[in-house]
Amino acid sequence: MNEIEVIKARHSVRNYKPTPIEQGKVAQIKEMIEELNKEGNLHLQFVEDAGNTYNKLLNRAMGLNSAPSVIACVGKDAEDLEERIGYYGEKLVLFAQSIGLNTCWAGTFNRKNLDAEIADGEKLVISIAIGYGADQGRAHKSKTPEQVTEVAGTAPDWFTKGVELALLAPTAINQQKFVIRLNADESVDFIDKGGPYSKVDLGIVKRHFEIGAKH
Ligand SMILES: Cc1cc2nc3c(=O)[nH]c(=O)nc-3n(C[C@H](O)[C@H](O)[C@H](O)COP(=O)(O)O)c2cc1C
Repeated sequence: MNEIEVIKARHSVRNYKPTPIEQGKVAQIKEMIEELNKEGNLHLQFVEDAGNTYNKLLNRAMGLNSAPSVIACVGKDAEDLEERIGYYGEKLVLFAQSIGLNTCWAGTFNRKNLDAEIADGEKLVISIAIGYGADQGRAHKSKTPEQVTEVAGTAPDWFTKGVELALLAPTAINQQKFVIRLNADESVDFIDKGGPYSKVDLGIVKRHFEIGAKH
């Protein structure tokens, strides 16, 4: 599967099989996390046993408490931390999808039950549930390209393709509260229109746009 096929196959999965992730794949995830932590100056962690991370009522109602494992998205507190978590976390989400696993970004979870290492000056921003889905999820309802773009002149193909994949990105409560602006000099701005976890969303959206724009 190429990157675009992986993006198209990914949906949030909230119901998981009890099957644990096998050790070979755990090693692959850990290796990828090490790379991403270097690249993004982050402290993402694979927590093999999700334990009671998803025991909140909302999590249980959605089925998320069935996830066997979790990615704890941690990093040194900084102005751009949330956006970097989104960008590099989505790289990890797409990698997981490419090796047959399923995921769900989750802002609602029981922070004190997640067995993550959070050093002084670090922040636990969000979690990602991971495992083998009982299903593969389904496509989300989406805004149109016109609703999320501002274009000076005619959009080139790379921009159109970038936007198409940005609209397939997961966003908190499927809010898609971003604008992608194409300037006259063909530079692109990503604008966050606010909302819960919208900075994480923006990082995720940037990663998707980049993949679309380069193909
Ligand atoms: C930053 C962020 C936080 C999210 N938080 C939760 C959550 O707490 N619980 C949940 O069930 N889904 C959560 N989601 C998943 C979104 O609801 C989902 O991405 C969105 O509805 C789009 O669906 P899709 O991921 O299947 O494309 C979150 C997604 C993002 C990006």
